[in-house]
Amino acid sequence: MKINSAEFIISNSDVSKCPLERLPEYAFIGRSNVGKSSLINMLTNHKNLAKTSGKPGKTQLINHFKINLNWFLVDLPGYGYAKVSKKTKEVFQQFITDYFEKREQLVCAFVLIDIRLEAQKIDLEFITYLGEIEIPFCIIFTKADKISKTKVASHIAAYRKALLANNWEEMPQHFVTSSLENTGRDELLTFIDNVNQD
Ligand code: GTP
Ligand code: MG
Repeated sequence: MKINSAEFIISNSDVSKCPLERLPEYAFIGRSNVGKSSLINMLTNHKNLAKTSGKPGKTQLINHFKINLNWFLVDLPGYGYAKVSKKTKEVFQQFITDYFEKREQLVCAFVLIDIRLEAQKIDLEFITYLGEIEIPFCIIFTKADKISKTKVASHIAAYRKALLANNWEEMPQHFVTSSLENTGRDELLTFIDNVNQD
């Protein structure tokens, strides 16, 4: 799929204020700093459409980007950033769970996982949560440029093992990406295109 236009529409922390248009949307979620905003920039071929930072906690709101005038990419705040005080934040912020539980336009969530790391409890919990509320999702392994190609396969195999140990029957559909090297761009855009055609 070719990206002809990508436009920031609105940021907010209230799912009822998200765009009312009934267009399909795809949300990016995962731990702070995993590369959600960078991936949105990579997919849309824009350097600064979504704000990124080397420091975790950059994205604080639900951000809607309209793509090719007929679907949305949604950038979400990360979870699991220890420095955010527990008073201001539950493990998964309420407005994020509201988003996943109430947003009818959401057709697929992308759960981003840093390919370098062993399976993290918080990600496994979030994946379990998505299963419980029956949200279709894919896994995106990020930052693939940081490990050798041969290690990519063994890290994915280890992740699959962790998911099976967490009561998943099979590895969900997954992608390997590097926002630095544009890895996985065509595969992800083709996936989205196919879902949009259904
Ligand atoms: P929050 O908004 O804080 O939740 O973070 P985020 O998940 O949106 O991460 P962001 O895209 O802001 O990226 C975090 C850091 O990781 C930045 O320094 C990026 O440059 C870096 N980064 C993101 N993707 C990649 C990648 O594919 N490869 C490498 N090497 N670095 C990356
Ligand atoms: Mg971000």
